[in-house]
Amino acid sequence: MKKIKGRRGIILKAPWEIEKLRAANQIVAEILSELKQHLHPGVTSGDLDRIAEERIAARGAVPAFKGYHGYPCTTCISVNNEIVHGIPSDNGFIEEGDLVSIDLGVVFDGYFGDAAFSAIVGDKGSDLAKRLLSVTKEALYKGIAKAKRKNRLGDISSAVQRYVESHGFGIVRKFVGHGIGKALHEPPEVPNFGKAHTGPVLKSGMVLAIEPMVTAGHYDVKVMDDGWTAVTADGSLAAHFEHTIAITDKKADILSDGFM
Ligand code: MF3
Ligand code: CO
Repeated sequence: MKKIKGRRGIILKAPWEIEKLRAANQIVAEILSELKQHLHPGVTSGDLDRIAEERIAARGAVPAFKGYHGYPCTTCISVNNEIVHGIPSDNGFIEEGDLVSIDLGVVFDGYFGDAAFSAIVGDKGSDLAKRLLSVTKEALYKGIAKAKRKNRLGDISSAVQRYVESHGFGIVRKFVGHGIGKALHEPPEVPNFGKAHTGPVLKSGMVLAIEPMVTAGHYDVKVMDDGWTAVTADGSLAAHFEHTIAITDKKADILSDGFM
């Protein structure tokens, strides 16, 4: 069948494709829920990655990140001052009070799922860490609230940025959200900063991964020598939440719903 393309190469998905994207994203959501239950002091990020890989295989899906531009693992697990793209390892244990971000992508039946959350290990988290988590998660939902047909992409970006900055936190510029479908990354880029009433008009059938990355300090990022792990340049804490959503005739359809 001929592909219907939106403006600027944005691929509009048919209803049956949205259902395939939902299936992939529901696998991601279920596995993220399971990983949350395993997030205890003494576990390694390598342990969590192995659990994810095994659960993905058990559902007949395939990891989406492994091999992507040479990325070595199934999940990205980023701790404290790490923002995104942390590489799981068995070199250190996760500790009480750590702020851990877990990002997971799968391919199922040819379609991609992608979502992420941050959480504090145990109940000894600092007030700052707790505030950072709640602001980052709420910023994602502020963006989703603007993800409506006839709005523009910049309305999402601006809502996320305004909410984050009004709480005195930094919104990362170096990494952005993205369209998603039969590829992990499709047009458009979905920045978490920008101007309302600008950018492509949102249409039913667009599917977007919205993923604010928020710092407790400055938004500047540094990439470590492993070529992946992105940390805050000033060493401040960071959090990351991500949902894959579809634009519909009504409010956004959260395809990865169920794990936050
Ligand atoms: N959620 C991130 C993204 O969509 C994770 C990508 S990790 C990578 O870009 F290893 F696949 F690059
Ligand atoms: Co993503």
